[in-house]
Amino acid sequence: MTNRNAVILAAGQGTRMKSKLYKVLHPVAGRAMVQHVIDQLNTVKLDKMVTIVGFGADIVKEQIGDASEFVVQEEQLGTGHAVLQAEHLLKDQEGTTIVACGDTPLITGETFQELFAHHEREGAAATILTAQTENPAGYGRVIRNETNEVERIVEQKDASESELLVKEINTGTYCFNNKALFQALHEVSNDNAQGEYYLPDVIEILRNKSEKVSAFLTPNFEETLGVNDRAALAQAEKTMRKRINEKHMRNGVSIIDPDHTYIEPDVVIESDVIIHPGTIIKGASTIKTNAEIGPNSEINNCYIGEDTIVKQSVANDSKIGDRVKIGPFAHIRPESNVGNDAKLGNFVEIKKTVLGDNSKVSHLSYIGDADVGSNVNIGCGTITVNYDGTNKFLTTIGDDAFIGCNSNLIAPVTVGKGSYVAAGSTITDDVPEDALSVARARQTNKEGYAAKLKSRKKD
Ligand code: UD1
Ligand code: CA
Repeated sequence: MTNRNAVILAAGQGTRMKSKLYKVLHPVAGRAMVQHVIDQLNTVKLDKMVTIVGFGADIVKEQIGDASEFVVQEEQLGTGHAVLQAEHLLKDQEGTTIVACGDTPLITGETFQELFAHHEREGAAATILTAQTENPAGYGRVIRNETNEVERIVEQKDASESELLVKEINTGTYCFNNKALFQALHEVSNDNAQGEYYLPDVIEILRNKSEKVSAFLTPNFEETLGVNDRAALAQAEKTMRKRINEKHMRNGVSIIDPDHTYIEPDVVIESDVIIHPGTIIKGASTIKTNAEIGPNSEINNCYIGEDTIVKQSVANDSKIGDRVKIGPFAHIRPESNVGNDAKLGNFVEIKKTVLGDNSKVSHLSYIGDADVGSNVNIGCGTITVNYDGTNKFLTTIGDDAFIGCNSNLIAPVTVGKGSYVAAGSTITDDVPEDALSVARARQTNKEGYAAKLKSRKKD
């Protein structure tokens, strides 16, 4: 097999996005566009990958990390000029170089693979990935001759009226014979409407040298969308969301309303999970079988166990066990670990808290920096008072403890196993195992006192 290299064009500022963020870093389904391109290219076996980034685009390099080598294009003089920046890394290589754009996030690994295969089968010097669309506005048009051979690509701004009618577009992705590419790039001029060095001009240059130029027409225009502005970004998001949701549905996940369900690419969902509308599942989340999520829930980087139900709730960076009931309106903040058969009811917030198996916090509580054992019942309105304005402190609650409603547990404090805290207590000292702790003022009843108070009333 010949050597396969990739060049990813990611140096353009993306003026049409009207954004401070580099265009290729705009996320689609929570992931930078250029990262999608890299991920899909990585499914094709490559020997070398070079990403062309703009001057000062350290943030792009940071996001991409070691997945690629980088070359800086200090001035954005056009796509041809961009590829030329990789010359010192690639020019001596035999084999095929695929050039892809960092702003076409929907092209799949299969399409890249098909393009490579077509190019190698044809023995072409260049193969363009093209697509057909009824609305080619904004794309370069593929110009063919009477015998249907590709002659050149003309940019929208340079096209004649008849060329503008052409519905076959350049997707911005190509395979090239590596050496032929770099030779031809030196012949590209910037004598055109935009004063740029166009990569597509290489096609005509190669043809004029009697090199074989081919086109691989993908039937799937949707995949080849180039994102130049926010409207196209939303379109890409929609297509990506549909693709991800369909994958999960094919794997046995019920998604009640796929148009209103947002799942990021790395999320793992087992079969027989039900996802209700308005649900967002992000990051490296795993949802185990038979769980039910939503409506209107946001899960980010969480493990959700089997048969667990999460309704109208938010959970971040936490692990939730099996058969847990969460919500409605619960908030699970990072580093929490909820055991099996536990319950977190309405208006409950937990943070950095371990909640043991079968423990329940059913209503209106804040439990933060706490280590709660199993079979603990935490009554309505309980607060772990974990913060003194400077430091955070731990609350420990032993197995089988019962915390009465409206209690304050002033951390650091330990409530022993099997103990009871009376409702309305403010616990400042440790509670021994199996004790009852009452920490509130005693009630006094003054018999008949109401009549006395009423008699004082003046009209
Ligand atoms: C380009 C193609 C067009 C094709 C379309 C497909 C050219 C001249 N035109 O147009 O034929 O139909 O893509 O989506 O190539 N970039 C650099 N350095 C530069 C300029 C651009 O790295 O100096 C990068 C951009 O970041 C982007 C990609 O190259 O990722 C394409 O550039 P863009 O300006 O978006 O080209 P289009 O006008 O979309
Ligand atoms: Ca583009």
